[in-house]
Amino acid sequence: MAVGTKPGAGVDTAQVARDTREHVLISWAAQGQIAPLVVTGGDGCWIVSGERRILDFSSTLVNTNLGHQHPKVVRAIAEQAERLTYAAPGFTDEPRATLARMIADVAPGDLTKTMFTTGGSEAIESAIKIARLFTGRHKVLTQWRSFHGQTAGAMTAGGDNRRWANEPGIPGIVHFLNPDPYRSLFGADVQKALAHVEEVIWYEGPNEVAAILCEPIVGASGLIVPPDGFFQGIRQLCDRHGIVMILDEVMTGFGRTGKWFAAEHWNVVPDVMTFAKGVNSGYVPLGGAIVDGPIAKHFEDHVLWQGLTYSGHALACAAGVATIQAYRDERVVENAAAMGELLGRELRALMARHPSVGDVRGKGLMWGIELVKDRGTKEMLERWNGPSQKLATALRTACMERDVYVMTRWNLMVVAPPLIITADELRTGIGAIDEALAIADRYAATGEL
Ligand SMILES: Cc1ncc(COP(=O)(O)O)c(C=O)c1O
Repeated sequence: MAVGTKPGAGVDTAQVARDTREHVLISWAAQGQIAPLVVTGGDGCWIVSGERRILDFSSTLVNTNLGHQHPKVVRAIAEQAERLTYAAPGFTDEPRATLARMIADVAPGDLTKTMFTTGGSEAIESAIKIARLFTGRHKVLTQWRSFHGQTAGAMTAGGDNRRWANEPGIPGIVHFLNPDPYRSLFGADVQKALAHVEEVIWYEGPNEVAAILCEPIVGASGLIVPPDGFFQGIRQLCDRHGIVMILDEVMTGFGRTGKWFAAEHWNVVPDVMTFAKGVNSGYVPLGGAIVDGPIAKHFEDHVLWQGLTYSGHALACAAGVATIQAYRDERVVENAAAMGELLGRELRALMARHPSVGDVRGKGLMWGIELVKDRGTKEMLERWNGPSQKLATALRTACMERDVYVMTRWNLMVVAPPLIITADELRTGIGAIDEALAIADRYAATGEL
């Protein structure tokens, strides 16, 4: 971009909107009911749409961890494009090999070797296949409240309504109840939650279960932080029964929770870890499944029966190398931890002003605000997985009217700004949420939006 040129200058936004309306199918929407924002640029924590600047308070889809248009990542992609845009997955190249080494360096324990994919869903497919090939078993246990993506296997593994329209999915997935301290049957009793998982293992047959697959902190399916001890217990169950432990760090990975990976909050090392989103801040599609020593060794003399044309794409990996370097140089994970303290404190303070806020929970820069009709009964203000997204739409619209973008779903607001956010920007976003919550309070009191 020429010096002094505004992002988006020269874009005919009306033409973009018309072409989109005529020729683009937009996800998760009846096409006639939406008018997508025309994005013309990005600048740190801000989305640019023509003359308008919108604070990105959910890192778009909780993926733009470094914010938008980080100059070093943009330059790395351009320079890589000049040198080599693509090498077949059966060959190798510098960005792919370098990124794999850098991920191994920051990943917990002895997670060392990565199978690259083009996103999180494929990373889940890859992890499931690896666990099945490694164990010779086929069942995979997952949590009801979870989202693992939209390819057939990943979709089946997830638990919310995004599965329903495309069922049946793949065979062999068995769900169990989350250890949700706020509203699960087990409350905060971690031993009961673990006993439930072990019951499920015994009913399904310990020798049939290839893997237990979980998000360490559930993201889009409810922002659920498990009680301490849960994942240590899952680790023990996996060890006892020869089950592969897969942690899906697609959303939580690369600094989001104030640590490089959420597993570190509980000192747990999975056998396989999936990632995507934050690995290169979403600048070029990329994901992967990283495996530990024993699994890597297994595939020394067993064929890894999977592959993708774009596995480890050079442009995506070059973006990943520059992103991880920026996380380190600019102490981005440390900033996420520090700003996370502030964010958590200020969001919890909203409870005093807004009776509809039932619970505020999260870690680092990944927080959820759960809305209820009544704090005593915890009745949801909009039924999770229910037919109405009216509340979520009203809250999102109210925030957008204040130039703040916040991801909302049923009775949940997901607050997950870029990890580079400043205290002033945080306060701008929280101010908009504070005002928007008047809508939820009114809805709780009167049933009127
Ligand atoms: C935890 C988790 N896993 C997997 C996925 C799927 O990733 P993708 O959309 O890149 O396929 C997502 C997407 O939001 C996710 O949040």
